[in-house]
Amino acid sequence: KEEEKSQLFQALELAAKMYHHLLTQTQYGHSAREYLLRRRGLSKETILTFQLGIAPPDGQFLLSFLKKRGFSEQLLERAGLVGSKDLSNQRKRYFDRFRGRIILPIHDTQGRVIGFGGRSLQAGQAAKYINSPETILFQKSNYLYNFHRARASIRKQQQAVLFEGYLDVISAWQAGVENAIAVLGTSLTESHVKIIQRNTKQVILCFDSDRAGTQATLRAIDLFHDGACTVKVLQMPSGMDPDDFIRAQGIDAFKEQVSIGAISTTAFRLEQLKREYQLTDDDQRMGFISQAVKLIAQLPRPVERDHYLQKLAKEYHLSLDALRQELRHAKFKQ
Ligand code: CTP
Ligand code: MN
Ligand code: MN
Ligand code: MN
Ligand code: MN
Repeated sequence: KEEEKSQLFQALELAAKMYHHLLTQTQYGHSAREYLLRRRGLSKETILTFQLGIAPPDGQFLLSFLKKRGFSEQLLERAGLVGSKDLSNQRKRYFDRFRGRIILPIHDTQGRVIGFGGRSLQAGQAAKYINSPETILFQKSNYLYNFHRARASIRKQQQAVLFEGYLDVISAWQAGVENAIAVLGTSLTESHVKIIQRNTKQVILCFDSDRAGTQATLRAIDLFHDGACTVKVLQMPSGMDPDDFIRAQGIDAFKEQVSIGAISTTAFRLEQLKREYQLTDDDQRMGFISQAVKLIAQLPRPVERDHYLQKLAKEYHLSLDALRQELRHAKFKQ
């Protein structure tokens, strides 16, 4: 069992090295390099730090490289590096899982490669990302992208910034935000939340500013419900993700957002609620107020309830008294 694991680690490490070599040292890696440097604005240092790579389109490349190094096809399949197809008479045909993609190695806490994300280079073709499957070493719900690099900074700052995408983490890191982590192409789990809570007092959710990102943010807020760490939300301008923002507005603008732009989860939820109503219509407006007060009524601390009630009163020109009455009513019905 341990012997098997150690072989899996070795195969993954060699694969990462080979992909990285192809990207950085060969003519073949040229167009992918151009893509990362020019289109994505990454520096050479960033490409080295994140051990980015390129997988050739040929489905036998990694397979034959690693077979020559003594790894069996079956082991490489268990490492998630190759896939297989059943042929007749119980034979199988093996092929590289990652073909013609930018390779993003994923590490465990000790910095060992446990899997890969692969981004397609052709827009619109196939899936934009494919990831390693679940293996003995790699469970998406137990690991966070970049955690091994970010951990020291997360602990020191007592703050983590959680992103949705690999490239958001890489861009943020390049911008000097070193406490950057992301989920691995799946949704956030209880287990991710525990890892984060064990390491920091505060997490900033910085997901894409689109429908999926907003839904994921609301879900994440719920998952962090027990309050073991404070949650803040940093929203990007509509339609952008953090990586887009950094490229459009620059490093300083992004760092400023991280340090002063994050809002409370209550402010975020109220903002999202507001979008569901046509506030110029009086009935809709009253509907919103009543839902907003219900949301505020759930807050545990009286000062918090008061704070948001006052904001609501100001914004909608209502008396605080009326809102307090409404809140008592809402609490009574809880
Ligand atoms: N993802 C995935 N499979 C997909 C699409 C997305 O696993 N088919 C995961 C990846 O981890 C990706 C994240 O979800 O990083 C966020 O997806 P998206 O916002 O679409 O991609 P970006 O990270 O913004 O990638 P890019 O900037 O390269 O377009
Ligand atoms: Mn997205
Ligand atoms: Mn994105
Ligand atoms: Mn994109
Ligand atoms: Mn992006």
